[in-house]
Amino acid sequence: MSERAEIVEVGPRDGLQNEKRIIPAETKIALVDRLSACGFGRIEVTSFVNPKRVPQMADAVEVLAGIARDPSIRYAALTPNLRGFEAAREAKAEEVAIFASASEGFSQANIGCSIAESMERFAPVMEAARAAGLPVRGYVSCVTHCPYDGKVAPEAVADVAARLLDMGCYEISLGETLGRALPEDTGAMLDAVLARVPAERLAGHFHDTSGRALDNVAVCLDRGLRVFDASIGGLGGCPFAPGAAGNVATEALALMLEERGFETGLDAKRLAETAAFAKELRA
Ligand code: HMG
Ligand code: MG
Repeated sequence: MSERAEIVEVGPRDGLQNEKRIIPAETKIALVDRLSACGFGRIEVTSFVNPKRVPQMADAVEVLAGIARDPSIRYAALTPNLRGFEAAREAKAEEVAIFASASEGFSQANIGCSIAESMERFAPVMEAARAAGLPVRGYVSCVTHCPYDGKVAPEAVADVAARLLDMGCYEISLGETLGRALPEDTGAMLDAVLARVPAERLAGHFHDTSGRALDNVAVCLDRGLRVFDASIGGLGGCPFAPGAAGNVATEALALMLEERGFETGLDAKRLAETAAFAKELRA
């Protein structure tokens, strides 16, 4: 039997958050419903953040209320603080994610506080999530490069990843926010992180600005990681990382994993149809 590798679909959130044209909630709901038929176990649907900063995610409540939920899928939302968490719980998100940065410059630009302050904000989120029985995923952004601070030290990534794990995140997603990492950058970063966090608790989250995302996934596979984030149709980017492209495309990553002998559980034909639908949403 072939080994399993999982793709976490983040297109409705990471993919759409950067689109300039406001996409109607019903279109986002249609996208999530199509994704729900592709075979994912987890879909990141939206974010509970300041709508002035990320206008595209202002309809988080409406989108979570409108999707047809498949009980075998966990529908997730980003929650940067307790206010976001309470709203996500009310909207029946089944999983939440907190998001930190390995670089101070991006932490300030993205969430308006230092790395240390972000940990303080996350503590009550973790506590509330524990009480509500909701799993929490932790992101570390800028794991190799930061748009403001330049190259990021692998030890800084390991430190933030270990802190998120210690706080109770069940998995840490390593965000290569800029999409500029070379495989050797990713390798050096992973060597530091794996000294503190086991591969089974890590996920790779690669943006694809330089077209090396699949090569970076290959480095992760060699080191034992088996969970990867991707966006259908390669949608996206981050409003606070100017010039960064979308995540690696789900359909391309699924093909690469299958070619390497991994079972993803995804339906290639449905992925292709959904990718075509997603690409039409682009401004
Ligand atoms: P803050 O520190 O309070 O300061 O917010 P602020 O000045 O940015 O915002 C204050 C305003 O936000 C106030 O409203 C608050 O009420 C409101 P105002 O008085 O101005 O009308 N506010 C909220 N509104 C809705 N929901 C909330 C909430 N909290 C405060 N939960 C905050 C901090 C994090 C909320 C803010 O900075 C923010 O929304 N930032 C945007 C973060 C974001 O969504 N970034 C993109 C996602 S992360 C990413 O893409 C990287 C990732 O993909 C991995 C990778 O690739 O690296 C995950
Ligand atoms: Mg991202």
